[in-house]
Amino acid sequence: MEQTTSGAPDATASPTLTSPPPQGPAVSVRGLRRRYGSGSTAFEAVRGIDLEVARGSIHALLGVNGAGKTSTLEVIEGLATATAGEVRVLGLDPVRQRREVRRRTGVLLQRSGFVGDLTVRETLEMWTATVTDPRPVDELLELLSLTAKADTRMRGLSGGEHRRVDLACSLSGRPELVMLDEPTTGLDPESRRQVWRLVRELREQGATVLVTTHYLDEAESLADKVSIMRAGEIAVEGTVAEIVAAAPSQISFRTPAEQLSLPTGEVSTDGELTVLRVDDLQPALTELLVTARQGGVRLDRLSARTASLESVFLDLAGDHHEKPETHDEPQETSR
Ligand SMILES: Nc1ncnc2c1ncn2[C@@H]1O[C@H](COP(=O)(O)OP(=O)(O)O)[C@@H](O)[C@H]1O
Ligand SMILES: [Mg+2]
Repeated sequence: MEQTTSGAPDATASPTLTSPPPQGPAVSVRGLRRRYGSGSTAFEAVRGIDLEVARGSIHALLGVNGAGKTSTLEVIEGLATATAGEVRVLGLDPVRQRREVRRRTGVLLQRSGFVGDLTVRETLEMWTATVTDPRPVDELLELLSLTAKADTRMRGLSGGEHRRVDLACSLSGRPELVMLDEPTTGLDPESRRQVWRLVRELREQGATVLVTTHYLDEAESLADKVSIMRAGEIAVEGTVAEIVAAAPSQISFRTPAEQLSLPTGEVSTDGELTVLRVDDLQPALTELLVTARQGGVRLDRLSARTASLESVFLDLAGDHHEKPETHDEPQETSR
């Protein structure tokens, strides 16, 4: 194997069209909008989002059903066009340079449609036939712990096994970037953990993973960076530690009959409960307790907690009133 002498610039090295430099984000999105329908029935599902996914990272798009995750991902995947905005995937245009993007990315759709009569092996053979330089089917079966199910028909699989076949397909081309739309929805705990392990392995091998989820624990446990989507916008973004550090802590207690002078913070009363949101929990709590003792006031149902990803998420979901509540039912996507 030849080695270039260190320090000597290689004059022949020049960027080629097919392999853009590996620096720069794996995904870059600017001002993305996506509208469904037109006229009075038009609905804007994605409302001007910016997103940057660092190479070699796991980035989670977290949000309740209907937040716009799938609508966003489909544009990044090149499966739908944006109403406005700009998208670059590995430095390429996912629509105009679709072939190149498809070769280097793996996509797991929220809902896949495989023929129930085919066996797992036949399904993977059919799929890998469409992929340039695929992993061998036996390797894929092994990777997803499906070897024992190779000759089972698709319709005979459990939800978790079916999802693993979907995943096997999305990983068949050894993608640099993997986009997974709710990879673990409906899976049992053990299958979910297996998917998580696999996603971490992908990152260890140098791949970038963009994953949507409505599970907080999934985002918390997997993601290097989380973007919380709400009503077509990215409401909060950062590492879990950053998101939690930026959010207020909360103190709550049953509203006492007596007047109390409360520490500075945002105060609200939810029925009979007084809720205080404060930036720094310890001094606020001390002040409250001292005041209560001096006034001889008893604070029933007293609770104090620092922010968590869950409290941030619930707060976001809670103060959004412009749309009807989230749907529990699986809903139609654009295809
Ligand atoms: N084909 C469509 N036509 C009209 N509205 C749609 C269509 N697909 C999705 N929507 C709406 O767009 C919003 C975002 O949907 P979606 O991107 O699927 O959200 P998520 O993946 O976060 O659950 C929802 O309110 C949904 O009802
Ligand atoms: Mg979705």
